Amino acid sequence: MSASLVLGIETSCDDTSVAVLEAGTTLRSHLIAGQDVHKLYGGVVPELASRAHLELLPKLVTGALAEAQVAPADLTGIAVTRAPGLVGSLVVGVAFAKALGLGLGIPVTGVNHIEAHLHAGTLEHGDSPMPALALVVSGGHTELVEVSGFGQYRWLGRTRDDAVGEAFDKVAKLLALGFPGGPAIERAAAGGDPAAFDFPRPMLDQPGCDFSFSGLKTAVSLTLRPYGEPPYAPTLVADVAASFQRAAVDVLVGKTERALTQSHARAVNLGGGVAANRELRERLSERCAARGIALRVPSLRLCADNAAMIALVGAWQLRAGVELDPELDAAASLEESGLAGVIS
Ligand code: KG4
Ligand code: ZN
Repeated sequence: MSASLVLGIETSCDDTSVAVLEAGTTLRSHLIAGQDVHKLYGGVVPELASRAHLELLPKLVTGALAEAQVAPADLTGIAVTRAPGLVGSLVVGVAFAKALGLGLGIPVTGVNHIEAHLHAGTLEHGDSPMPALALVVSGGHTELVEVSGFGQYRWLGRTRDDAVGEAFDKVAKLLALGFPGGPAIERAAAGGDPAAFDFPRPMLDQPGCDFSFSGLKTAVSLTLRPYGEPPYAPTLVADVAASFQRAAVDVLVGKTERALTQSHARAVNLGGGVAANRELRERLSERCAARGIALRVPSLRLCADNAAMIALVGAWQLRAGVELDPELDAAASLEESGLAGVIS
């Protein structure tokens, strides 16, 4: 039998992405299109995101198939992000995948976006030592999960309010640094004093591995109040950015270390857009080295939202015979998706 060829489709937020994955391991093509339109509004506007997915998706599918030198009829299955995410955006991907699957007479499987982040690094670094601790940090999630294999997860911690990337974005907005905020904060922080402001390290002194970032953003907002409205002096911006980044990274590293004491993890797999942050990577790398375990960080394309990771999990699901019920639609939350049982 010839190798499987899975088309992966990701439209859960503001990136449209399509990939072709061969035999569950080899990427034949991988396209990601960001949506610049949101920059004008300082954040993702759901209606604009859905419309952009609708426009971009057919072009990306055509492009990804051409680049992979694969004819539609050669595809053996389709994997599409089903949850969680912006419901209007997810619907575009799911409807497209269902229609294409029906037309080609091939199975469609619905993938959980967070589960895909847990495994993304495999595509570059091969199978992870197991169990592994996954830290997924992005604009939508902050999760600490022990992974023992595909479908075998133990959730150790998650955010109770804002995701850490969201906190970077909100603090960048307070400082008038633009969107997305993470890279802008990191740049501004480079010239600042991380000890200038003693921002809180939310929940670090409490047991467990859950996170909370909304209080940190509020603390930054209260600190800025006496200075009035932006633009602020460059030294103030740099000091606030550096002190905020230090506090956020302290919490992420502290909770990851705590999770490691609750698990026999043999590696830490970092994922999500915030994995781009150098301070986070360096500090985690030190802590993992001290424990004698590997820190695995895939390239930024695989850390951010991408269809390659969706195809990866989808290929595994299709092998296991997990197909999308044609009656089911996209689901905004994990609970609605019916995948919560698999994931919790
Ligand atoms: O995974 P991603 O591309 O999309 C989702 O949110 O799912 O992550 C985007 C998030 C944004 O919140 C962005 O500000 C943050 O990742 N980010 C960073 C950095 N680069 C991107 N946060 C901190 N430092 C960075 N260098
Ligand atoms: Zn994501």
